[in-house]
Amino acid sequence: MIHDFDRPVARIAGTGHATGTRILTNADLEKMVETSDEWITTRTGIKERRIVENGVVTSDLCVDACQQALDEAGVSPHEIDYIVLGTVTGDMKFPSTATIIQSKLKAYNATTFDVSAACSGWVYGIEIADSLIRAGRADKILVIGAEILSSMTNYNDRKTCVLFGDGAGAALLVRSNDDRGFLSTYTGSNGDLAHLLICEGGGSYKPGKNRDIPSEDFTIYMNGNEVFRHAVRIMDHAALTALEKARLSPEDVDMFIPHQANIRIIEAMKKRLKFPDEKVFVNIQKYGNTSSASIPTALDEAKNQGRVKEGDVILVAAFGGGFTWASAAFRL
Ligand SMILES: CC(C)(COP(=O)(O)OP(=O)(O)OC[C@H]1O[C@@H](n2cnc3c(N)ncnc32)[C@H](O)[C@@H]1OP(=O)(O)O)[C@@H](O)C(=O)NCCC(=O)NCCS
Repeated sequence: MIHDFDRPVARIAGTGHATGTRILTNADLEKMVETSDEWITTRTGIKERRIVENGVVTSDLCVDACQQALDEAGVSPHEIDYIVLGTVTGDMKFPSTATIIQSKLKAYNATTFDVSAACSGWVYGIEIADSLIRAGRADKILVIGAEILSSMTNYNDRKTCVLFGDGAGAALLVRSNDDRGFLSTYTGSNGDLAHLLICEGGGSYKPGKNRDIPSEDFTIYMNGNEVFRHAVRIMDHAALTALEKARLSPEDVDMFIPHQANIRIIEAMKKRLKFPDEKVFVNIQKYGNTSSASIPTALDEAKNQGRVKEGDVILVAAFGGGFTWASAAFRL
């Protein structure tokens, strides 16, 4: 679906993020698989990832991130109308992790659900939340992207285990009464490409109770080359579409926050869209790919570091398994 907005209706009033506390460095990975700091750094841009301690679950990271977003906005949990969580590594098969977050936050007036769109999950959630507020169905919505990817990473597979980290990022969307807010959102998907980036086990196709299923099927499989090729093309398309729908050009953007999957994808987009270095936010070196958490985490960091300020025009673009893609332009 493509939206085209004349006036912002929903804006971001608060953000927060939380990560795993254990730092997994490239040197640590050199001891686990045949790889090197040099290979990982030049091919991916990643130096470290944050991994949760045993016992920490996705909803724990979410609650921490949400609490920061609520505090910043001065909003209490009982005012929340919806909690929307983008995740593929929820606490349990069901209930949705959003309901667990509701209980932990005591946000009992909220309707809650999870969105399964892999790395695009948070931006999908943004489109849903913006639409709900735009339709007059809600005033305050928590949109979270969170993953504990370490729970489905195969640490014997050097092609994938160097990439992923754990984290959560949250944004509180509220009704806007000025020119701040979402100028466009855009989402899309192509299920024909699902096989390139997939975790087959644990659903009805390969249920966990069937002992014939190899353990690798419960972890991430990725055809890196193919995913890379599509990612550059699709992320470009997503970013340009959000700009076009908002009637903006790249020069109008104060900060571009792409999904943090690979520094080479980010560099390719930067070149193509002609963004100078200072207008592209990158933190992949510290967190790796945290899937749906990557953009809201980067947004929160960009705010905390003073790289973006109220009134700035931000462009975000995501791409992930499915394939899915999503983008948005907004005035902070
Ligand atoms: C995964 C990725 C970093 C691999 O980089 P690449 O340049 O495509 O590397 P290739 O897969 O072609 O592998 C090249 C060689 O390096 C090897 N290699 C793979 N992982 C390695 C590692 N961690 N350390 C050392 N060597 C590695 C491969 O086995 C291969 O060796 P071979 O030529 O002897 O077979 C890259 O494809 C990528 O980032 N893809 C997109 C990932 C992505 O964005 N995923 C998430 C989407 S949300």
